[in-house]
Amino acid sequence: MDNRPIGVFDSGLGGLTAVRRLHEAMPNENIIYFGDTARVPYGTRPPETIIRYARQDVAFLRTFDLKGIVIACGTVSSVALDTLAAESDIPVIGVVWPTCARALRETRSNRIGVIGTASTIRSGAYERMLLTARPELQVFTRACPLFVPMVENGRVQRGDVVIETLVREYLSELKGQGIDTLILGCTHYPLLRGVIASYLGSSVKLIDSGAAAADAARTMLTPAGRGRGTTRYFVSDDPASFRQLAGLFLNEEIPQLPELVEITSY
Ligand code: DGL
Repeated sequence: MDNRPIGVFDSGLGGLTAVRRLHEAMPNENIIYFGDTARVPYGTRPPETIIRYARQDVAFLRTFDLKGIVIACGTVSSVALDTLAAESDIPVIGVVWPTCARALRETRSNRIGVIGTASTIRSGAYERMLLTARPELQVFTRACPLFVPMVENGRVQRGDVVIETLVREYLSELKGQGIDTLILGCTHYPLLRGVIASYLGSSVKLIDSGAAAADAARTMLTPAGRGRGTTRYFVSDDPASFRQLAGLFLNEEIPQLPELVEITSY
């Protein structure tokens, strides 16, 4: 039994898809969440910048006595997991392997699609992991750079002509490639599940990277004792907007305004 909190971070709101899953699957856990809302998006930036930002995010989280860290961000997991894990004396869990493992369990046709930010797709992390585990797979990838700003602005509903156009634009090629499984390789994308599913049809299974990482945390970290856990939220900018949109991700409101962090000082 270990009641120390789990640190969870993302460039913004996306990591809340992992927090939602942690709340469902591990309601006793205490969680410290950091969303780097002053510097989102990460996914358009070069690896050196992503690593620098991620180190500051971890340094802030480590001001708490944590039992583990979940990198609830496909971009940071793809680019910086090895660096962060090597520098840490507590477990650091990324989204890439748990998500790939789930996709490998789901696919029947061995044709898997991966969507993510530009940096994630450029890194090749998901593709490499999948093909190492199962070389006979066919993996099709596509960067979707405009999805994160759409999600951060709450433009996620079916019927929204802008997001529906983007989904068509980004996913038409994958649709023609006969995939049966699509990795949502960015933790913001589960919010687009409805629009994506209605475009690709029910024969394509969508894999949620935030939920997969949360499930990995459950197997890797010593559980907390009895009693409902608490979650504290921190952001680097605009706590009010974060709180306003957080409900979409968490399916419940955040009771208090998130606390503001000067992340560049870490
Ligand atoms: N949620 C982050 C991810 O999973 C978004 C990255 C970004 O800020 O561009 O990749």
